[in-house]
Amino acid sequence: MEFMEIEEIVQKIDNLYTAKQKILKKLIDYLKNINIDYALLKSLKYNNQNKFFFDFNENLKNIKVYVIRWDKYVNPHDHNDSGCIFKLLYGKLQSRLYSTTMAYKDTIVYHENMCDYIDNEIGYHDMENINFYDYSYSIHIYSKNYVPSYHNKPI
Ligand SMILES: [Fe+2]
Repeated sequence: MEFMEIEEIVQKIDNLYTAKQKILKKLIDYLKNINIDYALLKSLKYNNQNKFFFDFNENLKNIKVYVIRWDKYVNPHDHNDSGCIFKLLYGKLQSRLYSTTMAYKDTIVYHENMCDYIDNEIGYHDMENINFYDYSYSIHIYSKNYVPSYHNKPI
């Protein structure tokens, strides 16, 4: 293995970071333009499951899309290497952000149509449905496309 000059290493990391940001932006733009399918949400309301695989666009490869129905509270959790991009479709959610050592960092309230991204570098989060008289629903994208190659994961 050849050694790289520090400038090359910096450039390589920079390129990976830029590529990741570009794909993230594309996916977030994609989420922003999704129209809420109220018929779908209605059909999820009485289902036993609260997470639904959503196969709705073949043009975006290597992504998995889920709609999640939020009932009450979900404990702080991590995410897989590719992180999670999500958009609140309906309702209101409150999330507390923690470091990976569970030190409290921030509280975020998500309103309808807000998008966000979290991964394990950002930290862990919990999620609470604060739409007190109904469920909340969000759509989530899990993608391997924006995992930098140094994670050595198959794309
Ligand atoms: Fe999460």
